[in-house]
Amino acid sequence: MKKIIIFNWKMNVADFIRVDKNNEIEIVVCPPFTHLEKVKNSLSSKIKLGAQNCFWENEGAYTGEISPIMLKNLGVEYVIVGHSERRKYLNETDEMINKKVLAVLKARLRVVLCVGEPSRKSQIANRKAQISYAKQYVKKQLQKDLKTISSSRFAISNLIVAYEPVWAISTSGTGKICQPEDALEMIKFIKQTLNSKFSILNSRILYGGSVDGKNIKDFLKYKEIGGALVGGASLKKNEIKKIINLCRVIT
Ligand code: PGA
Repeated sequence: MKKIIIFNWKMNVADFIRVDKNNEIEIVVCPPFTHLEKVKNSLSSKIKLGAQNCFWENEGAYTGEISPIMLKNLGVEYVIVGHSERRKYLNETDEMINKKVLAVLKARLRVVLCVGEPSRKSQIANRKAQISYAKQYVKKQLQKDLKTISSSRFAISNLIVAYEPVWAISTSGTGKICQPEDALEMIKFIKQTLNSKFSILNSRILYGGSVDGKNIKDFLKYKEIGGALVGGASLKKNEIKKIINLCRVIT
């Protein structure tokens, strides 16, 4: 399966590089809603368009919201749901996130569900115990966020999970880096958890949190890590180039 690299601009406007030849990896750019159309028109067909959020209904009296169908009509193929910044600043609950995941899958779009523990517990001294705490936290998120999702109703290959330890996110986290081996262990655990819920699963699990041109290969060298969700580095053309070129070599 191809690795996916998702560039999340968050609430920023940036320039993207021109990519005309690309069969090795899947590249997705997620600009703010207001720039979806413009970015789509400037991208080559080798790059896919993604949104950073959506609502769970397709139309109605929901002031300020945007539906999956509206996004689809704009050419969006991927929707990020449950990003930790939305959980934190907008008080998005697991119940809301579950409705969004459902709505995105119903619209036959790909959903990128973000999960991850908020902090490292200062009272937990050793790595094993930290990881065990993270696993329990993420397991609960997955159970709630995917509560109403069944493999008999949806193409589960449209479900992509991004493991993003919140403390490792460059701008909203603590500045600490997640060790690639720890990310790998968490991603294997997420795969197992999903496998036990959906009997057939060929979905990709990505890593996100301070990924840049320097460290991306440390994560993507593992076959279990299906790609990366990149925030801060997606605003810098040099970083984007490095990331894309390195990923092509790895795959
Ligand atoms: P970062 O953001 O790459 O800046 O850490 C990742 C994310 O928030 O998805």
